[in-house]
Amino acid sequence: MGGVFSVRKIISSFIRVNHAGELGAVYMYNGHLRIYKTFHMCEITHIETMLQNEKEHMEYFISKISSYSRPSIVNSVWRICSESIGFISTFLMQHQGTMSCIDGVETVVSEHYSGQLSQITIIIANQLALLQREEERSVNLPELEKIDALRYISSLEANIALLEELKDKVSKFLEDEEMHRDSANAQYMTNKVTEIHRKFVMCLTKLAINISKRI
Ligand SMILES: [Fe+2]
Ligand SMILES: [Fe+2]
Repeated sequence: MGGVFSVRKIISSFIRVNHAGELGAVYMYNGHLRIYKTFHMCEITHIETMLQNEKEHMEYFISKISSYSRPSIVNSVWRICSESIGFISTFLMQHQGTMSCIDGVETVVSEHYSGQLSQITIIIANQLALLQREEERSVNLPELEKIDALRYISSLEANIALLEELKDKVSKFLEDEEMHRDSANAQYMTNKVTEIHRKFVMCLTKLAINISKRI
């Protein structure tokens, strides 16, 4: 977890999976809204507000993806799956389906962001320790070796700055996801059907996260 390049690889994986997830979220909320709009159902403003949050999250990762990562190669699969799940959940179970779907997805996404935040915090501490060690070591180096050391120091500083920025954004996004989860959780009746549906959505979300982290 210490080297500049291995940390860049981890950051790349963080950005790729978050980019894929936020893209999926936008498509899922759009899937729900297509039914609400078609059948003139109420409660639309609340879902539109959540969609707006997801768009902001997505825009941030879009702004980072080309510089620090690459899109997941299965993004187009997530788009189709996410929109279909949103659409089908609402079509079959109306508002109950939307809310149990959002609860399931946002529960997993909140756990994912929470775990990522812990990892980011550890990596930052690790990079800061490395930076301090390298700064101390570079003081007594001969001129030629100093150039390499300074280059390494500036790479560490760039990683730390990016990690701090990611930490801020993910903390903010986590608050939004928890709010989505909690408000959805309060709006549907827990019964056998909604519980099976919620569990199914959670499994799919976990699978999507695990795959997007890798490819
Ligand atoms: Fe989000
Ligand atoms: Fe969300």
